[in-house]
Amino acid sequence: MQTWLHGRDLIGDLDFSREEVETVLDVAFDLKRKRALGESHAYLRDKVLAMLFFFSSTRTRGSFEAGMAQLGGHAGFIESKSTQISHGDTPKEIGEIFGRYYDGIAIRHCDWGVGNGYLNGVAKASRVPVLNMQCDIYHPFQCLADLMTIIEKKGKDLRKKKMVVSWAFAASYQKPMSVPQSLVVQMPRFGLDVTLAHPPEFKLMPEIMNMAQEQAKKFGGKFEVVHSMEEAFKDADIVYAKSWGAMVHEPDGAKGAEIIKKYSSWITDERKMALAKPDAIYMHPLPADRNVEVTDGVMDGPQSVVYDEAENRMHAQKAVMALTM
Ligand code: CP
Repeated sequence: MQTWLHGRDLIGDLDFSREEVETVLDVAFDLKRKRALGESHAYLRDKVLAMLFFFSSTRTRGSFEAGMAQLGGHAGFIESKSTQISHGDTPKEIGEIFGRYYDGIAIRHCDWGVGNGYLNGVAKASRVPVLNMQCDIYHPFQCLADLMTIIEKKGKDLRKKKMVVSWAFAASYQKPMSVPQSLVVQMPRFGLDVTLAHPPEFKLMPEIMNMAQEQAKKFGGKFEVVHSMEEAFKDADIVYAKSWGAMVHEPDGAKGAEIIKKYSSWITDERKMALAKPDAIYMHPLPADRNVEVTDGVMDGPQSVVYDEAENRMHAQKAVMALTM
């Protein structure tokens, strides 16, 4: 067990080795148990986390804020538009200055081609850990919560279990591709056979695809790509279907929105879920476009684990904060 994570950033999913992720999960399960029993676990008394948001949030803000309070510390909510960032504060200044006020800097910046570079720029200048609350490339805390949820539902030995990471239709906006990218990189390290399904225009970044292949090879899992939801769902143990934008294929947002309209049949519904194993679970990080991306019947049905997933965000994040800050 590798436990020395103090001072470390978590920006990309592979920043922590598999053994370090196992440590995070072990601590997360312990913290979940402690909270259930009402046992105090104030490991971060007197510590303060900055939460800098360039993009809206329900779960991420709530779970980091509540998690810090439960650990005995405090989380400060900072909306980028209320700061002097637009008037000239650079990532270097945010890293240098917030690094002197706070014990950790958590950032959400999802702008395509900008977010991940921003986080790394802050991390370079910061003396305290930088935690990725979602960027344009990765959503590592969502992925940790998802892994925790899968272990709860399917057990620790995930070898030979089939996980589908599928694109789904949603008309509301071009959603970041950080969730599927984190999933395809992280899940093969835990033995899952990952099938990525998407229409041809919704490719993930080539470097992420290479990383996913490498991790699958290294850890003995499978990673394949198909272009049909039905084909992907067949015999799946885990169905994770959500929308993302066509940014890799078409960086122009308006043109990307036109492409999305071609694929309204990519909805997760009861008929498609019936192709998966009878005990398959349905996962989604939320928010979802109900009855567009997924039917109410699936979202609220017996196979859905979306609220456990959302809860586990808090336990996984508390574990990383307690270990790194
Ligand atoms: N899943 C997730 O990151 O939710 P929020 O966008 O509400 O934070």
